[in-house]
Amino acid sequence: MGWVTIRVNRNGVLRSYSVPEGITVLEALEYINSNYGEGILYRASCRAGQCGSCAMTINGKPRLACKTRVEDGMVVEPLEGFNVVEDLVVDRTPYYKKIQGLRNYLHHEGDIPKITPEDMREFKGVRNCIDCLCCLSQCPARKFSQYPGPTFMRQLARFAFDPRDREDRERIAYFENLHNCTTCAKCVEVCPKEIDIVHRAIERLRELAFEKGYYLKNHLVVRENILKGWRSVKKEGESFLEKVKEEYIVDNEKMRLALFTGCLIDYRLQDVGRSAIKVLNAHGVSVVIPKDQVCCGSPLFRTGQRDVAEKLKRRNLKVFNSLEVDGVVTLCAGCGCTLKRDYREREFQVMDITQVLDRIPMEYKPLDVKVTYHDPCHLRRGQGIYLEPRRILKRIPGLKFVEMEIPDQCCGAGGGVRSGRPEVAYAIGRRKVRMIYKTGADYVITVCPFCEYHIEDTLKKFNGGGKKIEVINIVSLLEKVV
Ligand code: SF4
Ligand code: SF4
Ligand code: FES
Repeated sequence: MGWVTIRVNRNGVLRSYSVPEGITVLEALEYINSNYGEGILYRASCRAGQCGSCAMTINGKPRLACKTRVEDGMVVEPLEGFNVVEDLVVDRTPYYKKIQGLRNYLHHEGDIPKITPEDMREFKGVRNCIDCLCCLSQCPARKFSQYPGPTFMRQLARFAFDPRDREDRERIAYFENLHNCTTCAKCVEVCPKEIDIVHRAIERLRELAFEKGYYLKNHLVVRENILKGWRSVKKEGESFLEKVKEEYIVDNEKMRLALFTGCLIDYRLQDVGRSAIKVLNAHGVSVVIPKDQVCCGSPLFRTGQRDVAEKLKRRNLKVFNSLEVDGVVTLCAGCGCTLKRDYREREFQVMDITQVLDRIPMEYKPLDVKVTYHDPCHLRRGQGIYLEPRRILKRIPGLKFVEMEIPDQCCGAGGGVRSGRPEVAYAIGRRKVRMIYKTGADYVITVCPFCEYHIEDTLKKFNGGGKKIEVINIVSLLEKVV
C-alpha cells in the first residue's frame, strides 16, 4: 500500500499526516482520528455525495470530502466564506436562518393547478441541490455585496417555476438583489450536482421579474439604446463598421472568417477592431465584415430582457447564416458566449479570436514586457477557453508572463452589474485590482471589452499612487509583434 501526505488546517495551523493512498478525504480524516489519536472535527453523513454536509475547501477549491480522493501534498481546510466553529466545521446557522426567511415552502391557496411537463422541465433543472454551500463559498456577489448567494436564487427560482406556488418569488428575489449577480458562473463550476444556476435560475428569474416590472432603471437605458440604434451604447461619431472595408483578404489564405464586432468595438474601442484585422491577416486569416450586424443581445439576455434580445438574434442570424466563410470570429467574451449559447439556430461555427490565433500559430517579434492575464468569466467558464491566450502570449520572445493570484476571479462587470449596480461592480473589482498590482506587470491582457473597461476604471479608482498598469486586449499587444 502506498502513502501520501495531506495537511489539515486545524484552527489556523496546518498539520501533516500520512494516510493510505487511494482513499477519500473523508476516509483519511477518519483514519487520522483513529490512527494518530487526533480528534479532528468535521461534518459528514451519507458518505455518497448526497447530503452535502462534508463540503470543505480542498486544495483551494470547495469539494465534497466523501467524493474527493486524497493526493500527495493536498491541503484540507474549512469551507471558505463561513465562520469556523472548530477545525473543519463551519457555522451554517446564517444560511438556515436566511433560507427560512425566504418562506422556504410551497405557498398555495384555493385550487391547486396541474403541473405540466414543461413546468417539470423548468424546475427539475434547479431542484437537485444538496445544501453543500459550495456555491456560496465562491460567489463574489455574496462576498462583496448584500446578496444572499446562488443557492437562494436557485431555491426562489424553483418556487417561481412551480404553478402551485402563489408567493411573489420574483419580488423577493428582486429585493434580495437578484441583479447583483455578475453571471460569472463560478457557482456552476463548483456545484457538485452540476446545477446551471446562472442560466436555469438567475437569468430565468430575471426574465420573470422583468415581466412583473422588477428591473433596474439603468438596464432600461441599455434597452432603449438598442431599440433606437441596435447597439447597447450610444453612438459617438462614425462607427467602426462605417469606417472599415467589407473585406480584408490575404494571399495564401488559411481561413476566411466573418468578424463579429460587438457594440464596444463598433462604437468605443475601434483601435481594437483595427488591430484584430491586422493580426488575423498576419496569421493568414482573411476577414469579412458584414455591415448589417447588430448587438448580440448579451446585455439583454443576461438581464432578463429576452423579448428584444430575440429580435437582435434573428437579425444577426439572417446576416451571418448566409455568409460563405469558415466561421465567425468574436473579440468579446460576452458576444462569443452569447453566440455559442443563445444562438441555437445558427448555421456557422463561432470562434473566439484566441482560438483562431492559437490554431494557426506564427512567429512573433520579440517584446520586452511583463504581462499578466485576466480570464473573462464568459471566456473561461462560458466557453472553456483559458489555455489558448496563455499559449499565444508565451510564444512572444522576451515577454515575461506572470499569473495573478486568482486569474479567473470575476472583475465585477458582467451580468449587467456594471451598468445597473456600479458600486457592486467596483467592490468586486477592487479585489482583482489588488491581485494585479501584486504582479508588478506592465500590462493586464484580456479578451473582453467590458472587462477591459471595468478593470481600467477600477485600477484608476483604487490606484493609490501606485505603478500605472495598462489594460489591453490581446490583439492590441499582438499588433506590436506581428
Ligand atoms: S454567477 Fe457568480 S455572482 Fe452570480 S450567483 Fe453565481 S457565483 Fe454568484
Ligand atoms: S446549488 Fe449546488 S453548490 Fe449550491 S448548495 Fe446546492 S448543490 Fe451545493
Ligand atoms: S457525506 Fe454526504 S455529501 Fe459527503
